[in-house]
Amino acid sequence: MEIKAATGDIVKIKVDAIMVNHYEGMKRPEGAAAAADKVLDGVITQLIKQGDIKGKLNEVTLIHSLGRLPAGRIAVVGLGKKKELNTNKIRGAVAETCRYLRGKGVATLASGVQGAGINDIKTEESVQAMTEGAVLGLYAFRRHITKKEDNFGEIKQFTIVGGEKRQLEKAIEKGQILAEAANRARDMVNEPANFMTPATMAEAARQLAKEYGLKVEVFEREKMKELGMGGLLGVSQGSQQPPRFIILSYQGRPSPEIDMALVGKGITFDAGGIDIKPSEGMEDMKGDMAGGASVMATLMALAQLKPKINVTALVPATENMPSGTAMKPGDIITAMNGKTIEVLNTDAEGRLILADALCYAKKLGAKAIIDVATLTGACRVALGTICTGAFSNNDTLAEKVIAAGKETGELMWQLPMYEEYRELLKSDIADIKNIGNRYGGAITAAKFLGDFVEDTPWVHLDIAGTSETDKEKGYLVKGATGVPVRMLTNVVLAMAHK
Ligand code: BES
Ligand code: ZN
Ligand code: ZN
Repeated sequence: MEIKAATGDIVKIKVDAIMVNHYEGMKRPEGAAAAADKVLDGVITQLIKQGDIKGKLNEVTLIHSLGRLPAGRIAVVGLGKKKELNTNKIRGAVAETCRYLRGKGVATLASGVQGAGINDIKTEESVQAMTEGAVLGLYAFRRHITKKEDNFGEIKQFTIVGGEKRQLEKAIEKGQILAEAANRARDMVNEPANFMTPATMAEAARQLAKEYGLKVEVFEREKMKELGMGGLLGVSQGSQQPPRFIILSYQGRPSPEIDMALVGKGITFDAGGIDIKPSEGMEDMKGDMAGGASVMATLMALAQLKPKINVTALVPATENMPSGTAMKPGDIITAMNGKTIEVLNTDAEGRLILADALCYAKKLGAKAIIDVATLTGACRVALGTICTGAFSNNDTLAEKVIAAGKETGELMWQLPMYEEYRELLKSDIADIKNIGNRYGGAITAAKFLGDFVEDTPWVHLDIAGTSETDKEKGYLVKGATGVPVRMLTNVVLAMAHK
């Protein structure tokens, strides 16, 4: 889809459809809706009066112009109550409208800048959100569908009409970069495990490096042994697919220092290992590499936005499978920093591979670390599918992360890291065990990771509840969400700017 800026009058544009808005509780159309209403001899006013158009958030009413204006259709989108409007709602409403119009065969679409000036929403914020809404909301994973379906056209061109073309273009570009990076992560997560193996993930990293001028390095088993990555090697030993350790780097300033390491869990399929999972829902575990995909895609965005900061993404990638060579419950393995781990549940594998990746981040001298992982079902139980769980040893960094998520709509909630939880991980025969008791599982998992991070400022994000969705809603479509790519990018941009 081409997204472009234009100046001029929205009712004079010749496109398949124009998008205008209406707010809940307003008696008359305003702005572009009023202009369209005038040309349409009061149709919109009439529909508001009749109660057909209520202005409720994400309500779309389609009006055919029947030749009275150059555009064939007018989509009136509800933006909810004016005083409750924010950029997240704009992003979602534009997404819903775009999907609706795609279903009607609309190929070219134009809209004014939605909601700018209301509740301090700036023009560039709105335009960026509109762009993200269109790109994220129209996302579809259709790679493996061979039949061309009806009602699945394509919006080829989206024109945003406003005052200052250059300002609009800059906001469009940023929105496109962020949303396309999130979509790239979605593509990787939606891909089934027979198409997304550890080796394929490494290939995807190489591809990103080639496309965007990033540095890439991939370790295979030999190198992992040399480094003592007992966690990654242990988890991978039950699988036919060889593991990979992926290092993707963005250099934004001329220094060997690494300002931020982004670590992502890359389990390309989590069967649970010998502690095998129940079959119901096991297919979802193809998405257990969502953390890894998100950190790789974040670097894709950074490479285009070019902040003056150095960021390295680290992704330990492997399957977690049961087999005659698999790790057994009770086995003791040694992580890269020499700590011994008693593996009491082979399904708590994410923390084992992340332990090595966190050690590697420390070895690189990273000044801060954010890790992203579909780590625990317990986090999904605790927070549902609305919020990502956040855990940290550093309030300043945690605040930055959570604030960035409020802007992008990728919500997070911080959970405690009290020392008392660490006691639950005491092992009788090793330095630490990989599970706690039945309760507080998201927190004990975070405490486990904390042992490998030590004092480096660090935030751990458990996306087990947020990485995928089973409903189409706003800018989310069924499947992978692309969380938290836009947030991570914003955090890095904020760090670079100060
Ligand atoms: N990948 C899972 C966590 C998960 C569950 C992600 C549901 C997304 C949706 C993880 O490796 C796992 O199996 N965790 C166990 C830990 C337990 C054995 C301590 C869990 O959450 O049950
Ligand atoms: Zn598991
Ligand atoms: Zn897992």
